[in-house]
Amino acid sequence: MEFGKLIKQFVSKSGKEITLQVVEDNDLQLLLDFINRLIQEDTYIYRETDSPVTLDEERLWLSKTLEDIARNDQFYFVAKADNKIVGVGNIVRGWMREREQGTFRMSIDKNYRDQGLGAEMTQVAIDSAKNMGLRILKAWIFADDEKAVYLAKKMNFIEAGRLPQSIYFKEKYIDEILFFRKLEDIYIPEYGGMKDSETGDENAPAEIERSDEDIV
Ligand SMILES: CC(C)(COP(=O)(O)OP(=O)(O)OC[C@H]1O[C@@H](n2cnc3c(N)ncnc32)[C@H](O)[C@@H]1OP(=O)(O)O)[C@@H](O)C(=O)NCCC(=O)NCCS
Repeated sequence: MEFGKLIKQFVSKSGKEITLQVVEDNDLQLLLDFINRLIQEDTYIYRETDSPVTLDEERLWLSKTLEDIARNDQFYFVAKADNKIVGVGNIVRGWMREREQGTFRMSIDKNYRDQGLGAEMTQVAIDSAKNMGLRILKAWIFADDEKAVYLAKKMNFIEAGRLPQSIYFKEKYIDEILFFRKLEDIYIPEYGGMKDSETGDENAPAEIERSDEDIV
């Protein structure tokens, strides 16, 4: 994996030039600024407001992340605009018998939301997960995060279930929903969803003939 590699360039709905790239060492300070802006906002992320990240913590985290990417155990990409990081997405490979599963997470700067960036980044994650050789992509989403739930469904993720009242957020307990998306073009009618060929995913692998046993 080439660090810093350009993945995609596009113009957002509001006319901003956005660049998606694989993360690199040089991104350290921009990443730190980005995560601390999100923490301060107190949005639907796992870190709480009382724990801003220090430069040393971020350096350690980034060096481990780059090692994981080099081993193909993780994929981490950034969205850049206006000389800032305005979004991050990552996929973490599962372990042992879960090694063909990946968990996808994404966050976008509040000034760059609702411009189509989330959808573009989700599509990059789907394509990248296929490149990692994964068969299934999972995403845990806070149930109150209406926009993220909407986007997951729009991008053809399917709700697998929820952990009731599992997250303490803004002085109340909320559910966490597990979404998943099959990465091979396997259509499971009982789960709903569409074939990749129907959603226009041009990078989808050719359809694979499978028996019912294979997909259970
Ligand atoms: C959730 C998040 C990643 C989505 O990214 P985004 O760039 O805003 O997403 P997009 O612009 O591609 O799409 C947003 C969609 O949500 C829709 N939307 C906006 N507000 C909504 C709401 N309250 N309920 C449902 N849908 C909503 C928009 O209309 C848009 O849909 P459309 O393009 O079909 O019209 C981003 O908002 C974010 O980072 N939020 C901070 C919280 C967070 O990190 N959540 C974790 C997500 S896993």
